[in-house]
Amino acid sequence: MTEYSLNINGKTQSVSAQEDMPLLWVLRDLLALKGTKFGCGQGLCGACTVLLDGIAIRSCGLLMSEVGDAKITTIEGISENGDHPVQEAWIQHIVPQCGYCQTGQIMSAVALLDRNPKPSEEEIESAMAGNLCRCGTYNRIKEAIQTASL
Ligand code: FES
Repeated sequence: MTEYSLNINGKTQSVSAQEDMPLLWVLRDLLALKGTKFGCGQGLCGACTVLLDGIAIRSCGLLMSEVGDAKITTIEGISENGDHPVQEAWIQHIVPQCGYCQTGQIMSAVALLDRNPKPSEEEIESAMAGNLCRCGTYNRIKEAIQTASL
């Protein structure tokens, strides 16, 4: 076990974990940040997406030994009351169906709009291509991102 001091959602949190433990399980099992979801565990679905220094990454594939002092942002950290513009657009467009993939979708959308506040349709599709949705909410996701970018 190694003692880590993590910068998560603007706070420093200490946690004791194995070096080869993926960040996803530290967030969910050790820090009770359950908004980040486990889907495939292989970096393929995007359900586990969080921000690392503002970049959308798959937390299932990031080992604790690789996190360093990067700023980690989870869905719990993007707003106090669920009122981030992306979250509000998600509600406006009634995006989720089963909902399972949606926190990962939102985190990828937040990262996109932070680096490109007015993305084209093609840029949205490209940025979101790694986040799968088995319910097929892709059109509503795109519309919500367009609304959030206005
Ligand atoms: Fe990480 Fe699917 S659970 S990409």
